[in-house]
Amino acid sequence: MTNPATTQQSGAIPTQPGPREAAESKEAVMTADATAPKPGGTVSAPGDAVIAWAGDAVPDGAVIPGAGPSGTPGSRPTVKLREADPDDPPRYAPEWLELREPADAAARAHDLLDPLRIRLANLPGKSGGVAIHDLGCGTGSMGRWLAPRLDGAQHWVLHDRDPYLLHFAAVASPRSAADGSRVSVETRRGDVARLTPDALKGASLVTASALLDVLTREEIDTLAAACAGAGCPALLTLSVAGRVELTPSHPLDTEIAQAFNEHQRRDGLLGPDAVTAAAEAFSEQGATVRLHPSPWRLGPEQAALTEQWLRGWVGAAVEQRPDLRDRADAYLTERLAACAAGELRVLVHHTDLLALSRPAGGAS
Ligand SMILES: C[S@@+](CC[C@H](N)C(=O)[O-])C[C@H]1O[C@@H](n2cnc3c(N)ncnc32)[C@H](O)[C@@H]1O
Repeated sequence: MTNPATTQQSGAIPTQPGPREAAESKEAVMTADATAPKPGGTVSAPGDAVIAWAGDAVPDGAVIPGAGPSGTPGSRPTVKLREADPDDPPRYAPEWLELREPADAAARAHDLLDPLRIRLANLPGKSGGVAIHDLGCGTGSMGRWLAPRLDGAQHWVLHDRDPYLLHFAAVASPRSAADGSRVSVETRRGDVARLTPDALKGASLVTASALLDVLTREEIDTLAAACAGAGCPALLTLSVAGRVELTPSHPLDTEIAQAFNEHQRRDGLLGPDAVTAAAEAFSEQGATVRLHPSPWRLGPEQAALTEQWLRGWVGAAVEQRPDLRDRADAYLTERLAACAAGELRVLVHHTDLLALSRPAGGAS
């Protein structure tokens, strides 16, 4: 389901929109002149039932803030919905996405930008600017990072299935391109795993960030085919690589990491296998694929993120391997204490992928 753009908006981000309010505002086109999102509420451990909202009321079906990579049994990892149907897809707390945004920005692979810029500069008929589709945009972190690093007018089409996050993404969209050119935005609500080449018609670039690992192989094949069909490059960033390095080390690190990785692979999701699968899928479509590491480097200055990440990481591992619970509880207590004392460093490995498909109707 897509929502063509119709509404002009501008101004500061409103107080926390509930899902209903967000749904009403899901059709949005705007020039980017808004402030960054400041979701109300506190970040708390996954599973905490406490919600602190900027507005008066807790919206129906609100996302519980605090979203390390954990989930309820049978759900996909990362976020929980209060009173949600267990078959509903997970919702991502804007607080979690906000917390990780600076670490994501610091991690992103700059080396992939030059080949991307060259491809965009050589696109035929781009005098009016480029159209960039950001898949699984969340609150729009990718656009806020990339738009100011590319020259020329840009129109961003922000895709997500969550209208609540789309609302934040639209209101806090990037302001202008690297050379001061105009950046405009529209939102489309829908399932990005079912994109067709038609949905990407006219696209100059597809982006995604922290998305691939929550897709299946079939969904990644569909995405690669859609990009190849539209002849547009894809910059798919910050997919988990399944490797974590904690300093100082602990005897339980490896077992927790393995259990977490298995948790990520539940229900056919690719988890740490996503980048390899995506590289294969795009290569099979004739694209040239480049990979680059993009690790989170977490130290004392990222303690709040590290804390939430640790809670989610260990929580998912225990959910996958309940026999770990007692040892994992002690492990988490110890790790959180080290984190609070500024004595813990964590390297969470990710990979960025740039796929240069053959331009539609032309040679590569
Ligand atoms: C981990 S968050 C990343 C958000 C954002 N890209 C960022 O880097 O902050 C994953 C996002 O993908 C969205 N998402 C996951 N699967 C999706 C699907 N099949 N269709 C549409 N959106 C999806 C979620 O709603 C969420 O906003």
